[in-house]
Amino acid sequence: MTGTTQKAVVLHEIGAPLRLESGRPILNPGPRQVLVRVTVAGLNPHDQKSRDVGLFAHLLSLPAVLSNDVVGVVTEVGESVSGRVFEIGDRIVGQANWVKGSPHGGLQEFALLDIEHACRVPNNISDDEAATLPTNFLAPLIALFVPEKLGFRPPWQVGGSGGYDQATLLVIGGGSACGKFTTQLARLAGIGRIVVVGGDESELKAYGATEVLSRFGEPEAVQDRIRASVGNDLRYVIDTVNVPEDQHVGINALSLTEGGKLVRLRRTGQVRAALVREGAKYELVDIFGSSFEYPEVCKPFWERLPGYLRDGEIRPTTFSTIDGLDPDKINKVLDGYRDGVKVVKPNVHVS
Ligand SMILES: NC(=O)c1ccc[n+]([C@@H]2O[C@H](COP(=O)([O-])OP(=O)(O)OC[C@H]3O[C@@H](n4cnc5c(N)ncnc54)[C@H](OP(=O)(O)O)[C@@H]3O)[C@@H](O)[C@H]2O)c1
Repeated sequence: MTGTTQKAVVLHEIGAPLRLESGRPILNPGPRQVLVRVTVAGLNPHDQKSRDVGLFAHLLSLPAVLSNDVVGVVTEVGESVSGRVFEIGDRIVGQANWVKGSPHGGLQEFALLDIEHACRVPNNISDDEAATLPTNFLAPLIALFVPEKLGFRPPWQVGGSGGYDQATLLVIGGGSACGKFTTQLARLAGIGRIVVVGGDESELKAYGATEVLSRFGEPEAVQDRIRASVGNDLRYVIDTVNVPEDQHVGINALSLTEGGKLVRLRRTGQVRAALVREGAKYELVDIFGSSFEYPEVCKPFWERLPGYLRDGEIRPTTFSTIDGLDPDKINKVLDGYRDGVKVVKPNVHVS
């Protein structure tokens, strides 16, 4: 039996540390929602930016509960979903609601998940592994398959993967969680050539990279390395790590004759026009990795995700752990993102 109040780690004020609070209400699931006892709440770089500079302030209403990557056990199902999609006791993973004013984030004992933006966790995947998934696969999923982004045909649609064996995709940031999922999803799409900059070569090749280039050296050296690999044919780049000031490296890799798209996960700042090749034809495409914004691509993927995980087609990334709803430890990990320290996808063990 679930009580009526709970503990949560809460953002009260932008720029101030998160605080532990008890006595917060446990909400009842509405239609198409379930209540979960949260086992793992995954943190991401954007949680630090939400805490410190109010990123997504238009969606958060304070006091807010952060963490969009939620894994838990279903304790209640909304009226209209009973017995249909999830049942009490199911172990599920979902993206917490990005809808304005949502109180649903993972840093609390009980959270609501929307059934269409969640799935069961198969037995071969742990809760920690499942928590590495939502934010970091949704951004590349949207980048690759939403028509106005790169618009590749999703592998589950009629015709499936295929027809892209001549296409080349450049992924910048192979060491990042998003870069790893981008590589796996590009392979699922059937993209013939996946050139990745940065990250561990054997890991990325196991995900589907056809070539892995070092990310180290001066930007010009990285640029030369990429151009030596992709020639003048490249139409598609996904940059998972760079701020706009450094995105010229990907832009300059695009075909000078054909032009192309640079899809980016980071958009705050300005591309340095002086560093872009003369005559470059490029379009910058921004991503917001919200399942709720792009349901036509994300919902069918959630339905198939348990199968992909069971078959090893999608593999979770590495993680680190924090025991309990401990605000000091959570703030410290978020400080690591702020300070540019290497942070391995942190999972808060809520219960
Ligand atoms: N727009 C969206 O919806 C969305 C969604 C998710 C994430 N993001 C953003 O995307 C970024 C990546 O997130 P994440 O969680 O995937 O990051 P992460 O896992 O923390 O990745 C950081 C790693 O990226 C690699 N890296 C750093 N600088 C690089 C560079 N210049 N070139 C190549 N590789 C580099 C490094 O790995 P190695 O040292 O091993 O190379 C670094 O440890 C963050 O800024 C995040 O806020 C945006």
